Amino acid sequence: TLANSSVPAAEVMPARIRGRVPEAIWRRTSARLHKKPLHPLCTLRTEIASYFENRHPGVFNMHSDLSPIVTTKQCFDDLLVPVDHPSRAPTDTYYVDDDVVLRTHMTAHDVAFMQQGKTALLLCGDVYRRDTVDRTHYPVFHQVDSMRLYPPATERALIQRDLQADLTGLAYHLFGSDAKLRWVDGYFPFTSPSFELEVFWEGEWLELLGCGLLHREVLFKANVASDVNGWAFGLGLERLAMVLFQIPDIRLFWSEDERFASQFSSGTLSDRFKPFSSFPSVEKDISFWVNGNFHENDLCEIARSLGGDLVENVSLLDRFQRDGNISLCYRMVFRSMERSLTHDEINNIYYDIRESVATSLPVTLR
Ligand code: PHE
Repeated sequence: TLANSSVPAAEVMPARIRGRVPEAIWRRTSARLHKKPLHPLCTLRTEIASYFENRHPGVFNMHSDLSPIVTTKQCFDDLLVPVDHPSRAPTDTYYVDDDVVLRTHMTAHDVAFMQQGKTALLLCGDVYRRDTVDRTHYPVFHQVDSMRLYPPATERALIQRDLQADLTGLAYHLFGSDAKLRWVDGYFPFTSPSFELEVFWEGEWLELLGCGLLHREVLFKANVASDVNGWAFGLGLERLAMVLFQIPDIRLFWSEDERFASQFSSGTLSDRFKPFSSFPSVEKDISFWVNGNFHENDLCEIARSLGGDLVENVSLLDRFQRDGNISLCYRMVFRSMERSLTHDEINNIYYDIRESVATSLPVTLR
């Protein structure tokens, strides 16, 4: 069941509707890693679903097949994301056309479900964000998102306690009953108050999820009665799976290598990843003068679309200014997790990247 049936599923969209979305990204819309049996993201999804099912039998229905193509209204306007918010910028979001995007978060579906009268949901799916390239960032990742409405006149303080109890329970379920957790204030346009739950893991506080009480105006847009309140939360699966299963690089989730898949044979949280090799990296630098509105994400997009998953990291190495002009130097690190790379292969990709940067970005190569 689609929350918004006017938007067809990605696979049945005619090619022309791909619009401005790069081919390499578009292909990901049919991968559905969160539904692939024994895949760590699928294991995590089912683990979260069964936690909620045990805690509140029959209350939450999971939807995992919603099309990632949504309107800007669903993704931003209905959730009170300000018009000038950076998350709406074409440097951060994949626009199919002016008012259709690849969803940047699963919360995009909440209002439509509430309009249909649903009072409790668990959603899981792929979300898309343009970003820099490193070990923990990939332009496609997966989220579990949830919403629950309470009976009329339920006190907001009670709803908040319920939310926080459900979520600390989830964190203990995933990280063990001796996990160290803390709540910090958060900010999301569609919840108020908002919180983030963090877990102390290997010496660091990691952000686990964002949540809060649904904003009155969002409930109003969703035609929810004025004495009804509820909560929402959202959580990214990749970061969580990387920590729980000890997966060192986010690209591994997309690997077709049997040596990856075969390590997750139990389909439970006790699976652990043992790195199968570390092949040498090849580094290439690219330097240019900036002539206009240059955005790092555009460079990363070019590197990714030409280098695919061989691109491990793109980072700023040097920046200087001369006679009012800015020069940037970026280092690109290439590595395969499956084989050794040849210099010829990387040189070809590197020259293609240089050419594409020179012709499509507001820069002059040095
Ligand atoms: N949608 C938010 C994100 O992607 C997470 C969130 C969901 C926060 C629901 C609060 C409530 O970061």
